[in-house]
Amino acid sequence: MAKILSKREFSPGVKEYTLDAPLIAKKCQAGQFVIIRTDTHGERIPLTIADFDRDGGTITIVVQEVGNSTKHLGESFGVGDEILDLLGPLGRPSHIENFRTAICIGGGIGVAPVYPIARELKKAGNKIISIIGARNKDLIIFEEKMRATSDELFITTDDGSIGRKGFVTDPLREILRAGGKPGLVLAIGPVVMMRNVAAVTKEYGVYTVASLNSIMVDGTGMCGGCRVAVGDETKFVCVDGPEFDAHLVDFTNLMQRQQMYKEQEALEYSCGGHCQCL
Ligand SMILES: Cc1cc2nc3c(=O)[nH]c(=O)nc-3n(C[C@H](O)[C@H](O)[C@H](O)COP(=O)(O)OP(=O)(O)OC[C@H]3O[C@@H](n4cnc5c(N)ncnc54)[C@H](O)[C@@H]3O)c2cc1C
Ligand code: FES
Repeated sequence: MAKILSKREFSPGVKEYTLDAPLIAKKCQAGQFVIIRTDTHGERIPLTIADFDRDGGTITIVVQEVGNSTKHLGESFGVGDEILDLLGPLGRPSHIENFRTAICIGGGIGVAPVYPIARELKKAGNKIISIIGARNKDLIIFEEKMRATSDELFITTDDGSIGRKGFVTDPLREILRAGGKPGLVLAIGPVVMMRNVAAVTKEYGVYTVASLNSIMVDGTGMCGGCRVAVGDETKFVCVDGPEFDAHLVDFTNLMQRQQMYKEQEALEYSCGGHCQCL
């Protein structure tokens, strides 16, 4: 059981929760995730640890409501309520070292998991250039946190309502074209964004890491549900990742696998969802 200590809405369908989780807060590191199950009927939802407070014994998650389980969490759980299962920390922590300059890129909800990694990279002595993007101004999250941890911050929106109009790859390409030679580019966000970031950095031979959000079941390497093709190998995102060399990831395969259960989901929604009739 994990009690919700605070809940706030960033934008419609995007909410931040602080959870009472002293054991996880004590152990977790940047880049790791948890799996939650809200109640006995709930699916298992993998969520990145967006922040943690070791002294306070809390972790922070930021959740985008995309389907049945995330909407159920957003609509039915508030401050004081308890989440039935909280499993973690899971996955390998981010590799932190002094790359001299690191470009940290977050798209949409992906900005939340970028933040603790950027903070650790900064502590390790890196110059941090951050690029955060979203469809519009209302969907930009963690701007102040990212500004505080970055030496330079670029904001892009698809409609230009804040920052510059365009995609996160626009400032990235300009930095690389101008001769900037980061030791690391980190990208977390929609798969299409991570794929496009990897395409740009490949042209310039810049080491790039993407944090993958494959569909997961157990989260402990037992079921194979989260498998991805990385170079010539098959990897399990839950235990081998979630971060991988973005130049080796088969993003097309990842996108296809994310759509795998669409029919089942539609069936579930057709009877109101959140039941066990299937
Ligand atoms: C390691 C990891 C970390 C993650 N961190 C976060 C996070 O910090 N915040 C957050 O909001 N989400 C995160 N996700 C994604 C989140 O787990 C899914 O959005 C969630 O499980 C969807 O559950 P649902 O029942 O609400 O939606 P479903 O009904 O299962 O799916 C609704 C729609 O979302 C798509 N979808 C399902 N799972 C994923 C997925 N893993 N990635 C992308 N699209 C998906 C489906 O294809 C479908 O179109 C993470 C996923 C992984 C694997
Ligand atoms: S989620 Fe089952 S092996 Fe990764």
